[in-house]
This record gives sequence, C-alpha cells and structure tokens, in this order.
Amino acid sequence: MGFPITRMRRLRGNENLRRLVRENQLSVDNLVYPLFATNGQGVKNPVGSMPGVFQMSVDNIVAEAKEVQNLGIPAILLFGIPDYKDEVGSAAYDDNEAVQRAVRAVKEACPGILVITDVCLCEYTSHGHCGIIKDGNVLNDPTLELLAKTALSHAQAGADLVAPSDMMDGRVGAIRQALDATGFSGVPVMAYSAKYASGYYGPFREVAESTPQFGDRRGYQMDPANGNEALRETLLDIEEGADIVMVKPALAYMDIIRRVKDAFGLPVAAYNVSGEYSMVKAAAQNGWIDEQRIVLETLTGMKRAGADIIITYHAKDIAKWQG
Ligand code: PBG
Ligand code: ZN
Repeated sequence: MGFPITRMRRLRGNENLRRLVRENQLSVDNLVYPLFATNGQGVKNPVGSMPGVFQMSVDNIVAEAKEVQNLGIPAILLFGIPDYKDEVGSAAYDDNEAVQRAVRAVKEACPGILVITDVCLCEYTSHGHCGIIKDGNVLNDPTLELLAKTALSHAQAGADLVAPSDMMDGRVGAIRQALDATGFSGVPVMAYSAKYASGYYGPFREVAESTPQFGDRRGYQMDPANGNEALRETLLDIEEGADIVMVKPALAYMDIIRRVKDAFGLPVAAYNVSGEYSMVKAAAQNGWIDEQRIVLETLTGMKRAGADIIITYHAKDIAKWQG
C-alpha cells in the first residue's frame, strides 16, 4: 500500500513515538573501555593524538576502574607498556609487569568490574611485531606457545576474559588448551577474529609504543579489501573455542560486522579503534562536528550492523551523556 494511505512520517511526529518504534538502543551495558597500564607510581601521561586517553600506572588504573564501574560500564580492556622489550616479548608473560599487576590490583579494589586483557606481543617485542621474528619473517607456530603463556599469566593474575589480537593462525586453540589444562576452563576467549591491517591503528601505536620497527603487519593481519575471508577467519576461531568474536576496526567494516553476526549468531564485538576516535576528537575540537551526536550516531550504527559489544574510548563519555 502506497501513498497517500501510507505515510512514513506518521511514526516520526514526536520523540515518544520515535522511542516507541526505535529498533536499536546503544546501551552502556555493551561497552568496554580500554586502558593502558604502565609501571611506576602516579603516572598519567597524556597522548597527543588521543585526547582523554593516558598511559597510567597501576594506582591510577585502579582509580579509573572505579570510575568506570560507577558509570555502569561493565568491563575494561587492559593493554600494557612494559619496562623492557626483547626479541621474544618476555615482558608479556612476566607476572610482575604492568598488566598482571593492574589485573590483580583492579580485581582486589573493585571485584565487580570485568577485566579483559589484550593478549599480544607487539608492545613487548624490541621489533614491535606480534610474533617471533626470524630472518625478517614473523614465525607463526613458535609464537603460539608465547601467546598461550601470556594468556595464562593474565588468567593467573585474575583476568576474567582474554582477548588475543595477534592474528597468528591457531592461537585461539593454543590459548584455550593452555587455559583448560591449568584450571581456567571458565575463562572465555574474546578473539580478534576479523582484524584488518589498518591505518586506523596509528594513534594506538603511539599510546602503546608498539609501532613495528620494520615492515608492517600485512603479513598477518587481514587485507582491507576482503570480506569472505573474514568469515573463514571467524569460523576457524569459533572451531578453536572462541566465545566472543571481534571485528576490528569497526567504522570501515560495518558490512563485516553484519555478515559475521548473520553467519554465526555468536556474540560479536566491534572495536571502535583509536583512529576512529582521534578523527572525531579532532573535528570536534575544531568545532566542525557535534561530538556527542556523531559518537552516538556512529556507535548506534555499529549496533544496528550487528555488534553486541562495542570496545570504545568514548565509553565514559557515553555513560555520562546517557546518565
Ligand atoms: C595489538 C593491538 C592493536 C590494537 C589492539 N591490539 C594494534 C595493532 O595491531 O597494531 C589497535 C587498537 C586501536 O587502534 O585502538 N595487536
Ligand atoms: Zn600485536
């Protein structure tokens, strides 16, 4: 039935009508707030390209986690900036490094919040790659053991979920096995399944000090031109035991979020990455866009695309706006 019997504008006439028929809601319930843990005391280093984001020592991470919890955000995602780097990323599986200490401290000070840890080596290797290097190549299979060790050390510190972001083949299985063999069968794996080799990670690498010292990550992260491949990557992670699968970045990959959601029905996380955040912040600081409106519109778009969970540096602002 067409016009004039049908008038689409009838249900748009006022805010209560719009509320009644709204199909998707962006909720604080689905947000994860990333934090960057470093060593020392009282450290809170700002990052030029990411206004509002800091490298923080464990005492400040704990204070931040309390604030995040009070805002009703259910989870934080921890990254680490270690004291030392070497060829094999030893600090990634050092029980006394920043992430492990931050996990223990947060779980003790605010046990209610979920602590997710990013599992990767790039912040910990001298060359800045996500795996072991030999003759300029990132070796897949020998890296798996180190990733499993890292995940295990996070679980032992008390991490509620682990999130491997390295894109080595077989790492979800290796981590699942290592956790299951040591009494951590209840710790879920949130896998960065469709993780693209993206220019949008630039600001993150400044915060995490994880820029590769040679080459790039195209030999292990996905080609931005590929969609079908994302479904294969995700299926493999599910078969290896992933509990939650992730698409990353989010903004340029909304189609992938939708396809992954439709294909598997598992909880899907979308990572609203650093470059997406920095672009919005820069435009907002110039007065060119309405930050709140743009952030809510973009993240509602991610939900509409099929994201159940959104990892975002805007999480605290959203919680305050919706407060
Ligand atoms: C590490 C990792 C990266 C991000 C999350 N984990 C960067 C990369 O792969 O270089 C990016 C997050 C962001 O840009 O916000 N493997
Ligand atoms: Zn990495």
